Amino acid sequence: MIDYFDELLKQPSLFKDESKLDINFVPTKLLHREKELYLLSQLFLVLITNPNSASRKILITGKTGVGKTATVKFFGKLIVDAAVKRQAFIQHIHINCRKERTSYKVLIKIMTTINPKFPKRGYSPQELLEIILEYLNNYELHLLIVLDELSYLINDGGDLIYSLTRLNDDSINLKQRVSIIGIVRDISCLSKLDASTMSTLQRNIIDFKNYSKEEVFDILKYRSQISLINNAIPDDLMNSITELVHIKGDIRYGLNLIWRACKIAERKHLRQIDAECIRLGNQDLIPFSAQDILTSLNEQKLIFLLSITRGLKQSGKTQISIAECISIYKMICENVEIKCRSYSQLWNYLQDFKRDNFISVLIQSESFKGRKGLIEITEFSLFKLETELIRILKSKGFFV
Ligand SMILES: Nc1ncnc2c1ncn2[C@@H]1O[C@H](COP(=O)(O)OP(=O)(O)OP(=O)(O)O)[C@@H](O)[C@H]1O
Ligand SMILES: [Mg+2]
Repeated sequence: MIDYFDELLKQPSLFKDESKLDINFVPTKLLHREKELYLLSQLFLVLITNPNSASRKILITGKTGVGKTATVKFFGKLIVDAAVKRQAFIQHIHINCRKERTSYKVLIKIMTTINPKFPKRGYSPQELLEIILEYLNNYELHLLIVLDELSYLINDGGDLIYSLTRLNDDSINLKQRVSIIGIVRDISCLSKLDASTMSTLQRNIIDFKNYSKEEVFDILKYRSQISLINNAIPDDLMNSITELVHIKGDIRYGLNLIWRACKIAERKHLRQIDAECIRLGNQDLIPFSAQDILTSLNEQKLIFLLSITRGLKQSGKTQISIAECISIYKMICENVEIKCRSYSQLWNYLQDFKRDNFISVLIQSESFKGRKGLIEITEFSLFKLETELIRILKSKGFFV
């Protein structure tokens, strides 16, 4: 019998440690974000020099893949370590609001992080807030809550931020127990928040600018050095990758491209990548950020997005009406025998797609039930998006 593992292991690998190219891996060095880390440290210094005397609310903005999440996670570790050294107690909690979409889920996440034994059911948000505060007071703790991808919480996030802020004011001994860092790509996502929450958040904004070409090069080179064997990517090819990545500025895209190019090189039994590996790797690449979102969508959303993609592809036009998309959607639903969602649910899906940068919607008239709108997909190749959607749906058992 052939031992396939043996065979595979005999083939030389270009990877030293593949996990270090993973999008969720936080590297020990964050190149070219020193300024932002210094600024954050300055803003939070008081939490260490004079624990619980102040609370900070900061908003971080910047395009996709520019290191917002990585930098804030890195900073979380920095501040907790610095606090421990000085006998101040700060706990850092990073919450992705795309995954914890309601205030209740966020509060439960906070509570179960500070106390893993806490039961997940049976409390109202108000009760949870009180329990959290009591816990913080009992343990003389300050919480640094990071609300990443905050735009997903906009519908009731305002209340949450307001209540979290109020946690401080209401406490008997007036100790400040909670600081917040919000992360959004674009500040306009927050326009639905009430004015006072907005003004609290807007007071301190740190905008993460896109990396320059040289910076993209340095970062990708560093990530390759820790994850690949020596010389897997010669400098001139790293330059070509940088050219492709720099236009969008999305490092995640770069890491994915490197991973793909190296896998292709391995299949060809090469000891280093060549230009063709990059070309092939780049061919059907949906940005990693989008890929991550696509795999988290339910089948209804996947089918609706597929309907939009197909509608546009088949019509050959740059825009398609919502009504047309819905009729394609109904047809697909019928074919795979699932129940269609209501108009208002589909409308909500459109808002989500818009927020995820998959589509833009141009509204022509706004009367209820008669919302006439046109949809556009500009960021993705329709072919790539369709292929990817079909692949994901297939993995869920839907053949469309
Ligand atoms: N300066 C850097 N040094 C090393 N790796 C980096 C740097 N900046 C970003 N990265 C890596 O690039 C990837 C994307 O970064 P990150 O997830 O922080 O982006 P983001 O700004 O949060 O994007 P999004 O808005 O899509 O969430 C991560 O894997 C991260 O580790
Ligand atoms: Mg992020």
